[in-house]
Amino acid sequence: MKFSHEWIEKNPWLLIGLVVLVVSIGGLAEIVPLFFQKSTTEPIAGLTPYPALRLAGRDIYIREGCYNCHSQMIRPLRAETERYGHYSVAGESVYDRPFQWGSKRTGPDLARVGGRYSDEWHRAHLHNPRDMVPESNMPAYPWLEQTRLDRYDIVSRMRALQRLGDPYTEEEIKQAPAALAGKTEQDALIAYLQELGVLIKAER
Ligand code: HEC
Repeated sequence: MKFSHEWIEKNPWLLIGLVVLVVSIGGLAEIVPLFFQKSTTEPIAGLTPYPALRLAGRDIYIREGCYNCHSQMIRPLRAETERYGHYSVAGESVYDRPFQWGSKRTGPDLARVGGRYSDEWHRAHLHNPRDMVPESNMPAYPWLEQTRLDRYDIVSRMRALQRLGDPYTEEEIKQAPAALAGKTEQDALIAYLQELGVLIKAER
């Protein structure tokens, strides 16, 4: 039989095999370069690994499950950039392990919430969201302001990240417990939120 499209189309297994082959070549051509492209693996200008207090805050964000209602990824669509600011870029989250992109938005995206409100606003909002936004269905987190941070396990957490390649200096790790002295979990969480996304300013 002559080699023709008709022949391929009449042999389902051959068709399936060839489709899989073509799709995987296309997929590999798209995915593999991302591992080597600088824009996806290099931190953006000014980005450093999380300082101790913000790192502790990020861990509380994850512990409390804030990501169940908040994404941290602004998509490059007009409706999103008008509301939240510049779309998210990969180089912003190279020190996020695990990243907090997500797609669940019961609440607003938080990728650029840094600096949008005062610390006092966040304190009141975390204590009871209804005091700031009457129709809010966000849970209250009143225990965060009463709980002191654990000052010493931060060292092993920074060491773990250092082993994964985050460029923490020995000095930064040594100073970490002092940076957490006297701070509450709420202080740490607010420190984390207040710097989210501030390196790239909204072009509005
Ligand atoms: C059940 C879903 C839910 C959870 C869980 C949740 N939030 Fe919210 N959050 C919301 C909703 C809804 C809003 C919008 C109303 C408001 O401002 O309270 C919001 C608003 C916010 C805002 C203001 C954002 C803006 O741009 O106005 C911040 C900051 C915030 N949440 C932080 C947090 C943090 C931190 C946690 C975890 C400790 C958390 N949220 C957990 C639902 C949630």
